[in-house]
Amino acid sequence: MRGKIKTTLNVVLITCYSYGSTHLGSLHRKMLLIDASSPMVQVNGNYLKLKAGYLFPEIARRVRAFSESHPETDLIRLGIGDVTEPLPLACRDAMKDAIDEMGTSDGFHGYGPEQGYSWLREAISKSDFYSRGCEISPEEIFVSDGSKCDSSNILDILGEDNRIAVTDPVYPVYVDSNVMTGRTGLSAESGRYDGLSYLPITAANGFEAQLPEEDVDLIYLCFPNNPTGAVATRKQLAKWVDYAQEHDALILFDAAYEAFIQNDLIPHSIYEINGARECAIEFRSFSKNAGFTGTRCAFTVIPKSLKGKAKNGEEIDLWSLWNRRQSTKFNGVSYIVQRGAAAVYSSEGKKQVNELVNFYMANAKIIRSHLSDLGLKVYGGENAPYVWIEVPEGVDSWGFFDQLLSKANVVGTPGSGFGASGEGYFRLSAFNSRLNVEQAMQRISATL
Ligand code: MLT
Repeated sequence: MRGKIKTTLNVVLITCYSYGSTHLGSLHRKMLLIDASSPMVQVNGNYLKLKAGYLFPEIARRVRAFSESHPETDLIRLGIGDVTEPLPLACRDAMKDAIDEMGTSDGFHGYGPEQGYSWLREAISKSDFYSRGCEISPEEIFVSDGSKCDSSNILDILGEDNRIAVTDPVYPVYVDSNVMTGRTGLSAESGRYDGLSYLPITAANGFEAQLPEEDVDLIYLCFPNNPTGAVATRKQLAKWVDYAQEHDALILFDAAYEAFIQNDLIPHSIYEINGARECAIEFRSFSKNAGFTGTRCAFTVIPKSLKGKAKNGEEIDLWSLWNRRQSTKFNGVSYIVQRGAAAVYSSEGKKQVNELVNFYMANAKIIRSHLSDLGLKVYGGENAPYVWIEVPEGVDSWGFFDQLLSKANVVGTPGSGFGASGEGYFRLSAFNSRLNVEQAMQRISATL
């Protein structure tokens, strides 16, 4: 009997993984039918609170369904922000050399330091931070396999009672990882979760979030912003740093798109703001600037001056907790990939990364100008690889998604997938070939 029940659960779980978490509702229902006194393993009930599939798998599911019923259709994908252009030559050469080194007794590397190799951390500290006047030492940089993972994993070292603020719309990972770890209540009809403070960013406030009305302890900020493409000025960031200092709050600053900033006055790092070393963690990535979405390399900055407190009020150093967490749960990024990432900072690497960024930003310009010519209101795309569009009257975000998919055969991302305040907007990514971007614009012009 026990074996049978376990099998049933396994089947249910497989269903859930295969078809996305829109099926969590049915998982829940099936579980209720099972005798509660059975010795079956308990699942993390927080996952059952997740309201729908993670946005991008959900889009992929709809696109797959469309493609299956229209096999002849050639879709252009401007949905997920995944890069398309080849890895920079400098990175490839460095990785090839590293592979050859690994083929020798002297050059072979086994486990590396969990925090990342010192030569990569030194290059990051010098080129990304000291060059901009930010005093971030190599020891404060933790190399990882992605900002998505780090921005979720950081919750491991933070208490469960922290009050949390996110912008709305927002990169869904911040919200979902709080749900998964039990830091929220249930979701309401609007899709918003109880227990989170949502800070709307819409055209009405110039995509600038207002400070929270209630006290919060953790604030997620992403600049250049995913999904709106908005950037924050020095003054706007200083407002958040002041708030965090006054309220003993911590800012989780996602700067994965900083390389796309074109305006010299816009800060690339939160540490360009005085006081941020005392109140902010920053996430950075090689995914978008150097095309490492598939290669995987990123880093997180935890200044040694950052403090939190234990339940008994004792002051605790966040760097030590993260170092402990990484040493226990992470074995570092491969030597080969870190060599590739370090090449981003060579003179050739810098030039090639710059060319990649310019290439995608030229795509963004094409998208912006075509859609503006069609009479659509467009935002972003000037310092970020995302163009944020107001959908035409009479249609909502998913309606516009379906319209572009079925009529123009172009895949974008519905704004409502990023939060309730994203309703009425739509995101197009500039990460694609020039030909595809131009064709997508022609197809959209022909259908709108
Ligand atoms: C996006 O499309 O928003 C990105 O792919 C998110 C990510 O980098 O995970």
